[in-house]
Amino acid sequence: MADKSFIRFKDISISERILNTVFLLTIGLGYLAALANMYYTHQGLDGKAGLTVDDVVISYYGSTTQTRLGTAVTGIMKPNLKIKSDQDVILNWIHSGADEATYDEKIAPILNRDCVLCHTPSINPSLPDLTNYAGVSEVSHAGGATIPTLIRVSHIHLFGIAFILFFIGKIFLLCEINVYVKRVAMVVPFAAMLLDVVSWFITKSIPGFAYVVIFSGALMGLSMGLQILLSIYQMWFFSEDN
Ligand code: HEC
Repeated sequence: MADKSFIRFKDISISERILNTVFLLTIGLGYLAALANMYYTHQGLDGKAGLTVDDVVISYYGSTTQTRLGTAVTGIMKPNLKIKSDQDVILNWIHSGADEATYDEKIAPILNRDCVLCHTPSINPSLPDLTNYAGVSEVSHAGGATIPTLIRVSHIHLFGIAFILFFIGKIFLLCEINVYVKRVAMVVPFAAMLLDVVSWFITKSIPGFAYVVIFSGALMGLSMGLQILLSIYQMWFFSEDN
């Protein structure tokens, strides 16, 4: 092992260093643009400015507080409820996922009594159809990512980012650092990316996983950023006299 030497930054030409550097800087810039894009597509979903955990929850899981049905029974449609406590019955049902069994048992009787008078397609085709589960479901679930969307974004991320991380890693390999640290550092961004993608799907069902989405996304960004910065530093300021 000892006599086997590997290529390090000091062994590569200036031309190759220039190529590596412009690549790393461009990727770094691309990553910042990706962060800005993420900020603008997710911020404010919860009604507050800035990117929050709630925004991430709403993006993947959806919202149980901002459904059209929930807003209606606490707002303009509230006077139509003959029994006031039915408002809570409906809200609890929405918050617990708006399933069909409970709809049949508890929700349909309320809506049939107080709402279908107007909310029937043959009477008012422009109003939400509250005569059946499919129609009610449309206004009692809000947002959230669909599986096809998640699959589309996943394959773009996995292919695209794997390429980027591979090339960044190939350059980072030339650093002079403890070999065990290096081996771990190579794997971390890949593992973080995988965890990120998996946690999108889990957050779709379990909103608390939004924290894992944020943690793994941040970990990937940080570990990638460190590889880029250390590589550029060692390439130009560290390798000469080693
Ligand atoms: C007297 C007729 C009438 C009754 C009864 C009625 N609605 Fe409505 N509903 C309307 C009208 C009209 C609109 C459209 C209001 C608007 O867009 O400003 C509407 C709109 C809605 C909307 C859509 C709001 C949105 O996001 O655009 C929901 C949901 C709704 N009603 C639920 C209910 C529920 C639940 C009940 C029973 C508790 C009910 N409505 C009873 C007439 C009625």
